[in-house]
Parts: sequence; structure tokens; C-alpha cells
Amino acid sequence: MQDILNDIVKAMNASTDRGQVADYIPQLAAIDPNQFGITVALPDGQVFSAGCAQKPFSIQSISKVFSLTLALGKIGDAVWAKVGREPSGDPFNSIVQLEHEHGKPRNPFINAGAIAIVDAIMMGHEPKELLAEILSFVRYIANDNSISIDEKVAQSELATGHRNSSLAHFMASFGNIEHDVDCVLGAYYHQCSIAMSCEQLAQAGLFLVSEGTNKSTGSRVVSSARARRINSLMLMCGHYDGSGEFAYRVGLPGKSGVGGGILAIAPNKASIAVWSPGLDKIGNSKLGTQALEMLVERTGWSIF
Ligand code: DON
Repeated sequence: MQDILNDIVKAMNASTDRGQVADYIPQLAAIDPNQFGITVALPDGQVFSAGCAQKPFSIQSISKVFSLTLALGKIGDAVWAKVGREPSGDPFNSIVQLEHEHGKPRNPFINAGAIAIVDAIMMGHEPKELLAEILSFVRYIANDNSISIDEKVAQSELATGHRNSSLAHFMASFGNIEHDVDCVLGAYYHQCSIAMSCEQLAQAGLFLVSEGTNKSTGSRVVSSARARRINSLMLMCGHYDGSGEFAYRVGLPGKSGVGGGILAIAPNKASIAVWSPGLDKIGNSKLGTQALEMLVERTGWSIF
């Protein structure tokens, strides 16, 4: 495994076509695109890393997997009254379907859906309490109390988040946001601004590898049925309008973020985190996807 990861890092470091860093969030626009990291965490506790795998980056939309997991734990299937579970085929920040579908986002991973999920788990809490809960959940599943929120990224998003404000107010007009819109958005931006390294992220994904239990720590996070469903949503919706392409090329449940990270799950085999800040046109890590494609070719881990 270490040889495979070393080969991947060598290939990725040699790449000159690295995509574009997200520039609509000023704090992310300043990140050096010449970085690449990868970690493979196995259920038996073995961890293999190469490249910048210990450097924290903004997990952005990958956090939506963790907030969905929390929401399912808190309100169960009532989640599906607020968001659907169909691929959208539209960009992650699109507003077009919301009008036709009466303010109910297609799935929990597009921005509108993730904002609705934050509203669902707020349930009368102050935003700070909710954030503390999200952060402590992420620390618990990653088994690492040093994970924190990058306040500068959160403020940078807050200052430029006109799209997300539009989505949230539009949903509120249909009654699908119940709390104060600014409080919900503030919590959403902070959740997206959690900073994690590939090593921390791969650890955090381990519960999705082994039917809801992190076998390396012994903690049961969700039931096996729930883990299966979170994985299915990641496969169908985790890369927005690039989900089909990701399934075709990589063939694993995966969730991307505009910080350039991807968490991919090889069921019963491994949790994989990759990071390279340059994005493709859809907003998914360009080299991250290539690296996963290489990894799956070498390991045979595609689910297909
Ligand atoms: O709300 C946003 O636009 C970002 N905080 C998250 C978007 C994102 O990560 C999309 N991922 N590829």
C-alpha cells in the first residue's frame, strides 16, 4: 500500500494541470495549489499516508456527510421531509430546482440541502451550541480532539455568501427553514470551515467502511442500515453534477469539498482521504479524483 501511495504522490506532484483553487471564498483563493496529500485508513487500525497528509485544509462540503449523520441520529427519517435523496444534476449552489420543488432541496449535499440540514439539527439550540456539537462529533469519529474550525475561512464565507443567503431565504419563504436565517447560515459556514488533514479525515470516515462501526476504536457510530444509506447518498450525490463522472472513473461513495478534499469509502476495505486544492470546472478536486482513479485501478477497490 505504501508503494502505491508513493507512486500516486510522484505522479500527482509531476502534474502541471492542477485545476483552479476556489476563488469565490477569498480565504481559499490564497491556498497554494501545488500541494497533494493522501491517506488510506484500514479498519484494523493501519494507516498509510503520502505527500502533505498531515496538513489541515478546509473540509468544506465534506462536512455535510457528518452533519447528515448527526441529523439522522437526532431526527431520523424526518430528515427526508426537509431534503430529498436524489442526485440534482445541477451545480452545488444552484437555485433553479428549488422553485419547481417548493423549497425542498434535492439532497443533503448540495448547499441548499446542507443548509436545511443545519436548520433541522438546530432545534432551538444557539448556533454556538450546535457548532460545539458538530465539532465534538467530528472529533469523536476522527478520535482526535485537536480538530478545530478555521474562523478566518468562516468569516470569509460569511462576507461573500450571497448565493447561500439567497438559497436560505428562498427555502424560508416555503417554510423549510424554521430558525433565524442568519443563525442557520452562520452555523453552516462554521461547519464548512472545519479544518482537517487527510489523516484525520480518513479516520473520521472509518465508521462508513465497516457498517457503522469504527473497528479500529470499537465505537459504533450508526446502524449498518444507516451507514449503507449514507454511502449510497455519497455515491449518487457526493460530487454534485459530477457524481456520475466520479462513479464512472472511481466507483466509490465519495464526498468532495471546494477546499480540494475528497473522502472516499471502499466498503469493508478502507477509508481514503485525498487533498489537492485545484478544482475542476464542477468544483471537485482535479488531482484528488485522478489519484483515487489510480488507487482504485491498483487495488481493485471499485464497488462495481
Ligand atoms: O457553501 C459553500 O459554497 C461552501 N461552504 C461549500 C461548497 C462546497 O464545498 C462544494 N464542493 N465541492
